[in-house]
This record gives sequence, structure tokens and C-alpha cells, in this order.
Amino acid sequence: MSFLDMHCHVLPRIDDGAKDLDTARELLRLQQSQGASAVVATPHFYAERVDLNAYRQKAISRFEQLQEVAVNEGLPELFLGFEVLFFRDMAASGVLPELSMGKSHFLLVELPYGCALTDAIADELIAIRLDCGLTPILAHLERYASQQGFDRILSVIREGYAEAQCNAASLLHWNSRRVGLKLLEQGYLRYLASDAHSLVHRPPKLEEAYAVIEKRCGKRVVNRLQENSLALYAALRQAQTPIQSN
Ligand SMILES: [Fe+2]
Repeated sequence: MSFLDMHCHVLPRIDDGAKDLDTARELLRLQQSQGASAVVATPHFYAERVDLNAYRQKAISRFEQLQEVAVNEGLPELFLGFEVLFFRDMAASGVLPELSMGKSHFLLVELPYGCALTDAIADELIAIRLDCGLTPILAHLERYASQQGFDRILSVIREGYAEAQCNAASLLHWNSRRVGLKLLEQGYLRYLASDAHSLVHRPPKLEEAYAVIEKRCGKRVVNRLQENSLALYAALRQAQTPIQSN
């Protein structure tokens, strides 16, 4: 089964991801060789460091450049999104629709690392869902498991206000594998993604991660993750389609 890789830093020369167009092309080739038929490019967005319009224009320009290569060379279908680092009052900021994945109602959100996950953060995620009509997808949820307040974040997912994604690399290291597999078995992780940054530092390892999941959780869980990614793909495709008037 093919699948969508919904989180990676494949766009060239915009964040700490692909350093040039050749690297971006090679990353797409690797993702394709591991089974990805489509990819969401998700450069980091730090609200306090960049100007939204300028950054978004830069991302669109890089995206169009890479998309042309992908189409010409038969590489995975590309969508543009952003990995949005949590910021205060983000739901009320008015900018989130500009940062959603491929104009859909899904928003990739990176929680703050190394600090308490406060009730205010959980409430903000709920506000994104209820007030903005966007579904937050929490990037690499497994990374936050030891942080204070993690249980409250899990309750936000259980209650249907957010979804979550696991990094492939997390399942390949002994120190993060256990928590990743536990969250997967408990049903908190809806997507697996590469979060690839380069050919050397955090390359895409989707095939290896799916093999670990199959061995530890069974083929059924692999199928579920890939089907979830394809449902997201369908939503992205639908969001690209102009609405027809009767
Ligand atoms: Fe990322």
C-alpha cells in the first residue's frame, strides 16, 4: 500500500531542512522508494521570529520550484503545509488558515519542548478546533511523553479535538521506541511521518519504522496508519479542488 508522508522538511533553503534543490530531489526519491506516493512539505513556522506574509511567499516560491521538479521526474505528489510552533493566543491570531496543510482544515502543530504542557496549551488546542474549525495534528507526540501535563494533552486527543503523529525515527531508537509503540497501541497516534530534514541528519526512515510496527504491533496497525494517511491525502486533494457552482 502506498501512503502520504505528512510531515517533512523537504523544501529547499527555507528552514533547517533540505539545503538545496538537489537534496530536496533526493529526499523525495528516498521517500518514494520507501512507499510514499505523496508528501506534505512542512517548513517550521515560528510566529515570533518571522513575518507571516514574507515567509509564506518564500515557502510558496520554493514549493512551486520543487513541485515542477517532482512533476517532471515522476516524484511524489507535493502539498504545502507548515509545522507551526505553538504560540500564545494562536487560535485568535487569525493567521492559522494561512498555515494549514494544503488549504485543508488540518494544521500541523509543534508543542513547546522541555516545559510543562499547561492547561492553557490544552485549552488553546481546543480553541483551534472549535473557534477556527481547524483540526490540530500534534507533531511527534511521543517526544513530549515525560513532560508535565502530557496526560491533559492525551485527553484533548481522546476527546477528538486533536490528532497526533509519530516520527519514524522515534521507533528506531531504543530510548524512544517503547513510548512510541505504547502510544500507538493505545490509539493516540493517527499518522506516521518521516520529519525528514536531510539525507544525513534525520533522513526518511519510513520503511524501517513500518517494519518495526509490523513486528511489534502487527500488519493491522501498519494498514491502519497507512489508511489514515490516505484519508488525509483525500482531504488535501479535496481542499485543492475549486468548488463548482451549479
Ligand atoms: Fe518537523
